[in-house]
Amino acid sequence: MNQHLSQEFQQAYNQQPQATFFCPGRINLIGEHIDYNGGLVMPCAIDFGTTLLIAPNTEGVFRLRSLNFDETLEIPVQTAYEKTGREWYNYPLGVMHHFVQDGKEIKGLDMLYHGNLPIGSGLSSSASIEIVTAYALNEYFKSGYTKLELVIQAKSVENNFIGLNSGIMDQFAVAFGEKDKALMLNCDTLDYEAVDANLGDHVLAIISTNKPRKLAESKYNERVKECQEALADLQKELSIDYLCDIDAETFRKHQHLITNEVVLKRATHVIEENDRVKAAAAALSAGNLQEFGQLMYASHESLQNLYEVSGLELDTIVAYSKTDANVTGARMTGAGFGGCAIALVKADAFDDYSKKVTAHYTEIVGYEPSVYRTSINDGVRLLSGE
Ligand code: GLA
Repeated sequence: MNQHLSQEFQQAYNQQPQATFFCPGRINLIGEHIDYNGGLVMPCAIDFGTTLLIAPNTEGVFRLRSLNFDETLEIPVQTAYEKTGREWYNYPLGVMHHFVQDGKEIKGLDMLYHGNLPIGSGLSSSASIEIVTAYALNEYFKSGYTKLELVIQAKSVENNFIGLNSGIMDQFAVAFGEKDKALMLNCDTLDYEAVDANLGDHVLAIISTNKPRKLAESKYNERVKECQEALADLQKELSIDYLCDIDAETFRKHQHLITNEVVLKRATHVIEENDRVKAAAAALSAGNLQEFGQLMYASHESLQNLYEVSGLELDTIVAYSKTDANVTGARMTGAGFGGCAIALVKADAFDDYSKKVTAHYTEIVGYEPSVYRTSINDGVRLLSGE
């Protein structure tokens, strides 16, 4: 694959790449719509992601080429960058904007991107592009950022350059991911523990709904706003900074402060999901996959009924999975509104599951999902060169 990408690079830029970087996407095992509420999440980096090849040029320009979109953008090295309207490029441009605004010197580069993540499917293709770009620039120009600073910067790109009020989970997961570990991340303090994800005789399946995601960003921002409303209501009696600063019992005592029924449903999901992450971490460390799987199903149900970010496509996958004896747990992962589900499947039954879930989904939804098998893998890294 890398050889093929090197040839593409040579063809596009008439020179050899000097360094190749890779940043994965992520799945979240449990803890959904929690990160922007200051709670606990449990993401892992996966096998699929974005490869970036770079080499310097002497023309004082950035050339950004993507094999996925078959487009090249050429833009001079300058002191500020703006969104172009061409979606994909905005992620690298946002990163470059932050570097130059911080006074870091970056010089002309030829850059070739290739992603094998399904784009816009809830596996953090955008965080993967942001972090691979930030990591490569930081390494290549010796800009001196720590990995955590790159993560915080990439979140700021998402919030301030792109306009999505997302939390920090995705950027953190794709940067700090570790092989065979789930990252139990506290999104308030950014402390994390890499928990052994011992899946025993199970593997992780990713099932992409292949649903075109419309309005996902505005619905996401709407959920963020609803949580802020719930927090403001609770702050009338409680001195807290985030919804996840309280447990379920304290919440029950004060939930009367939330008068809007929809907002109450959202807050209930957040509080209960945060508690589920703690239980899930304990189950995973104890190797109790049955318990872990039940928590995944409970998480999905809450996202379906209380947080209302699922939909026919994701629900169909999870409902089928419950009936399959080879599946121990399943849920939607990421923001929802389409995107992907994950399932814990007995390794020797993966192909059987893949066939059956595809047939069932196609019958109900009318088009095919895509099913992938993934291991839990390392975060952003240099593959070769420099
Ligand atoms: C998206 C956002 C994350 C997180 C998830 C939901 O992936 O980018 O910050 O909020 O949705 O858990």
